[in-house]
Amino acid sequence: METSKPAEAVKNAVKTASGKIADALTPDVPGAPGSAPPSVEEPTTPHDPLPPKPEQGAPQTRTPTGAETGVPATAKGQQGAYLTTANGARLRDTDHSLKAGPRGPVLLQDHHLREKITHFDHERIPERVVHARGAGAHGVFTAYGTAEAVTRAGFLKKGRETDVFVRFSTVLGSRGSADTVRDTRGFATKFYTDEGTFDLVGNNIPVFFIQDAIKFPDIIHAGKPHPDREIPQAQSAHDTFWDFVSLHTEAQHHTIWNMSDRGIPRSYRTMEGFGVHTFRLVNEAGETVLAKFHWKPKLGVHSLTWEEAQLIGGIDPDFHRRDLYDAIEAGAYPEWELGIQVFPDTPEETFAGVDLLDPTKIVPEELAEVQPIGRLVLNRTPTNFFAETEQVAFHLGHLPPGIDVTNDPLLQGRLFSYVDTQLTRLGGPNFTQIPINRPHAAVNDMLRDGFHQHAVHAGVAPYRPNSLDGGNPFPAGDAEHAFVDAPVTVAQAPKVRANPASFDDHYSQVRLFWSSMSPVEKEHIIRAYTFELGKCYHQAIKERQLQCLANIDPVLCEQVATGLGLPAPQPTEPLADVTPSPALSQVGREWPSDGRMVGIVVDPDGDLDGVDEVRRAVFAAGMVPLLIAPHGGVVGGMPVQRTFATGRSVEFDAVLLAGAPAPAPDAVPARDAKAGTPAPAAVDPRVLLLVEESWRHAKAVGAWGAGVAVLEQVGVAGTPGVVTAGSGAEALAAVQQLMAAHRVWERFPATVA
Ligand code: HEM
Repeated sequence: METSKPAEAVKNAVKTASGKIADALTPDVPGAPGSAPPSVEEPTTPHDPLPPKPEQGAPQTRTPTGAETGVPATAKGQQGAYLTTANGARLRDTDHSLKAGPRGPVLLQDHHLREKITHFDHERIPERVVHARGAGAHGVFTAYGTAEAVTRAGFLKKGRETDVFVRFSTVLGSRGSADTVRDTRGFATKFYTDEGTFDLVGNNIPVFFIQDAIKFPDIIHAGKPHPDREIPQAQSAHDTFWDFVSLHTEAQHHTIWNMSDRGIPRSYRTMEGFGVHTFRLVNEAGETVLAKFHWKPKLGVHSLTWEEAQLIGGIDPDFHRRDLYDAIEAGAYPEWELGIQVFPDTPEETFAGVDLLDPTKIVPEELAEVQPIGRLVLNRTPTNFFAETEQVAFHLGHLPPGIDVTNDPLLQGRLFSYVDTQLTRLGGPNFTQIPINRPHAAVNDMLRDGFHQHAVHAGVAPYRPNSLDGGNPFPAGDAEHAFVDAPVTVAQAPKVRANPASFDDHYSQVRLFWSSMSPVEKEHIIRAYTFELGKCYHQAIKERQLQCLANIDPVLCEQVATGLGLPAPQPTEPLADVTPSPALSQVGREWPSDGRMVGIVVDPDGDLDGVDEVRRAVFAAGMVPLLIAPHGGVVGGMPVQRTFATGRSVEFDAVLLAGAPAPAPDAVPARDAKAGTPAPAAVDPRVLLLVEESWRHAKAVGAWGAGVAVLEQVGVAGTPGVVTAGSGAEALAAVQQLMAAHRVWERFPATVA
């Protein structure tokens, strides 16, 4: 049966139904749902499914055992123009159950009804026990070749390109929780290498709460909502979390990272990533080194302010995933460099006094440089969240030849945990055959049967040795790129439940982190501890954590104690003498502004030519302009993305004022509390609020022409990071320069050194 081309059919319908307005509104900013603009009328001419959006990607079409199929990715989704059953029979009606007469009972024989409802009833699968909330993207990793001397991994050979899928996540919250909560972020990368899949399952924080995986249920039970009332959601600001970390003091290092700005990233694009554990790399000659993996974001490490994080939690709980997808759609592809810190593989497994098997410790970058070994670019959003982001399954044991594990007791436990949980989460043992998990290397295992078996295994002898299948599959040697476990000597030792003595140092690196922060970052840490402990119910827990802070730094302890209205205790351990590591601070450098959001306040009666010029210049600079106007639709031929009612400073990295718009008709306090001011204002009060908030969140603000009056009215003209210029172009140039430092912290002198 003939069907017309899908996109064309919809385009035609749009033209007929909505005429010219549709063209004017066709957004050139990211975020359009669907791959073609919808028509006002319901489309009724049958046509094939619409193509995916240009920025969307999908898992390569591979067989369950890794072979290329050559079938386009779209063929894996719905086919043809007509509605069918799951078995492909075309249907006439999906809106009415089959009944014994229009007023009669529904008939049991209605297979379509039962199939539709039954499938729906089983749409949900268990969410991940941790890291339930996440967002993923496809990309490509290109190796520099700089790791060739230390690892034989083929995907790290110079110029080699490898497909990847990355999933970012929060740890504590449920699937539907907000993105911007204070938490650690997961940074899990699946490299589909031709020597087998490599999963680098890391976080945005280089240390972990615990040293031994046997404590993982404890820390997670403490961090998750209280089991009686199931509150609070996605928070560490509660008694059970602080109860645990103050009693189990090895958690203090990870905790101070969470209390720092690292706990509230601005974007996934501005997060570092860390493999956390020390890995063992093996080269062609069989020589080994120890190594730690680092991801360095091209845009620098950048965080939200705590007030922003809280506001966004309500205004846009999907802030981070939206930012990731929008950036890719806008062509501002998120980028990281993968780097390694390399250490000699000595019997002690230490470097510069740091026990490399202790996952609560870092090796400062000043002592072991992070050497770049390749570049990751995320360039495709998923086509289907469930199929890809939800069903992806990472595992630390997915290692290519040349990368091996160490005896880090946290890593060792993880090797068991992931596959164990995935058996339940993904409903059986065959989840490596789900499209997103399919390897890009030929698979010839002897695993058979089980729920949802997609492979159609041939032969009669899934065992070794065999002669009935001609001996296949055969063991591989070095020449065939076999994964060979590094033959590490295991020291003769008694069987014990104990840690090495070096694991007992719980405070020196916490102090190192604190000492490495800039004054403004220290202020934020003080604020975070005070907020979180202030939310605890029991004084005993606050006092216990203050004791931990006293062992980190007296100033930190005193400041938090003051905020809690409690006395600051004396240290119970000598304070470590540390050398700060400037690499730990995220302040003081300059970064590119690719894909950043610039809000432009527009007065429909103002300088619209200037706005148009600035809007184009923002695009040309690789950033995204969002027009903020009194009403939606079109102003001066330009599409409006935010109105004074919907726009809030938290969405923008900088704000430009092209005018001083008078209060809009909907600036009615009874309707919009943001419009409520004690005295009537000449400028729309929501615009004043936007500027106040942007200022308070240390963002660059620029104005030209009539817009300058707004700065004066808010009282911020002439303050640091607030620019007045003769033209829009000048204002943008100045603001872009300010954005390179991420925030204008000079506005707020710190009280601690
Ligand atoms: C260095 C310490 C750790 C890091 C960096 C880490 C990182 C991660 C990340 C990034 C994910 C999300 C993966 C995804 O996006 O699907 C994850 C999930 C998970 N982690 Fe960890 N984790 C750590 C420690 C542990 C430990 C010690 C255990 C248990 C002993 C554990 C158990 C799990 C489980 C069960 C999941 C859910 C996996 C799934 O359902 O697919 N993690 N972890």
